[in-house]
Amino acid sequence: MSRADGVAGTGGTPEPVDWEALKAAALAAMHNAYVPYSKFPVGAAALTGDGRLVSGCNVENASYGLTLCAECALVGNLHMTGGGQLRAFYCVDGSGNVLMPCGRCRQLLYEFRAPDMELMTTQGIKSMDQVLPDAFGPEHLEETR
Ligand code: THU
Repeated sequence: MSRADGVAGTGGTPEPVDWEALKAAALAAMHNAYVPYSKFPVGAAALTGDGRLVSGCNVENASYGLTLCAECALVGNLHMTGGGQLRAFYCVDGSGNVLMPCGRCRQLLYEFRAPDMELMTTQGIKSMDQVLPDAFGPEHLEETR
């Protein structure tokens, strides 16, 4: 499936990001978490370039290292519902506080970022480049071909 170009619809200026709706979706996702080992539920939600809401929760495993972070489920949900790019992202812990995505998940999000993707962080809204500077991405694979 190829990457979508980010902003769909009528082609005009995109609607402003509804951060409260994103937080609510992240909270709802968090309540589905399967966390018998860490007891640390996480919910993540994102707005896609074409206006969909996608979300995910963490799913742990008795083989601890196989745990799936909430962002893993989110990118799976992104592709299961039509693909495209992530425009805005919000992640919460079990108390509903903003949670910074772990390093691996920043890389997962980077792959599907819209060019101007924004993330809610503990320091306010940041860009993908701010949370994952000098990232490795699909463009680097092209360089050696
Ligand atoms: N976790 C996430 O779901 N996303 C993150 O970005 C950080 C960590 C989960 C994995 C594990 O189930 C729990 O939080 C404790 O590490």
